[in-house]
Amino acid sequence: MAKLGVNVDHVATLRQARGGREPDPIAAAILADLGGADGIVVHLREDRRHIQERDLKLLRDTVPNTLNLEMAVEESVAKIAIQVRPDKVTLVPERRQELTTEGGLAVTEHRERIKALIRAMHNAQIPVSLFIDPDLSQIRAAQKVGADAIELHTGRYANSRESEEIEKEFQALLEGAKLAHKLGLEVNAGHGLTYHNTQPLTEIHEIVEFNIGHSIISRAVLVGMERAVREMKALVSPLSSKI
Ligand code: PXP
Repeated sequence: MAKLGVNVDHVATLRQARGGREPDPIAAAILADLGGADGIVVHLREDRRHIQERDLKLLRDTVPNTLNLEMAVEESVAKIAIQVRPDKVTLVPERRQELTTEGGLAVTEHRERIKALIRAMHNAQIPVSLFIDPDLSQIRAAQKVGADAIELHTGRYANSRESEEIEKEFQALLEGAKLAHKLGLEVNAGHGLTYHNTQPLTEIHEIVEFNIGHSIISRAVLVGMERAVREMKALVSPLSSKI
């Protein structure tokens, strides 16, 4: 049975759209915990487009289980991580213009920088996961640079539409998960996972944790819509009795 890490970045995206206080990702994290989340994931981006340092610090004090900080291979964020001490960090590629994290980390290309950052995290007793494509050379490199875990990028699987392509991407994840497990790496997976495409991946027993954000936050907005409108309607028109 795999664990579920809930990414609350997009609650912060909605807050930042108005620059105010709501919705607060801290409240969302507490509710996610009540719903059974095994951990909370946030990405402190260099451009601070959603999660802010304030969120990270408050989450450190409130998340009862695992707080997983996604971050770029950047010294400024590394300093914050060492101060805040999340339960783990996940290194991700970060380009300013991208809509979300597109493609995994190129570990083979940036070995030395990644190795140095992992060493700094280990000195602070923070385990490190690397977000990588299901590419066997990247997985081997992840082990060589001293990572504790990998998170397999499920984006290509999630974006596949034809059954042949889905099967091909599933096999790549299966093969990648098996190799990583054999190399002694913990195996996580995430990106683009939804209520429709996640379950088949639970057949890959080497995957111990799924990290899911957008689809959960999207569903939360819709399943909460009717109640939210009903509550406002009751304020605007208390005597109307629509059931
Ligand atoms: N894992 C990593 C490393 C990510 O960067 C993201 C996106 O922030 C996710 C998981 C969650 O992806 P999604 O929002 O598509 O579920």
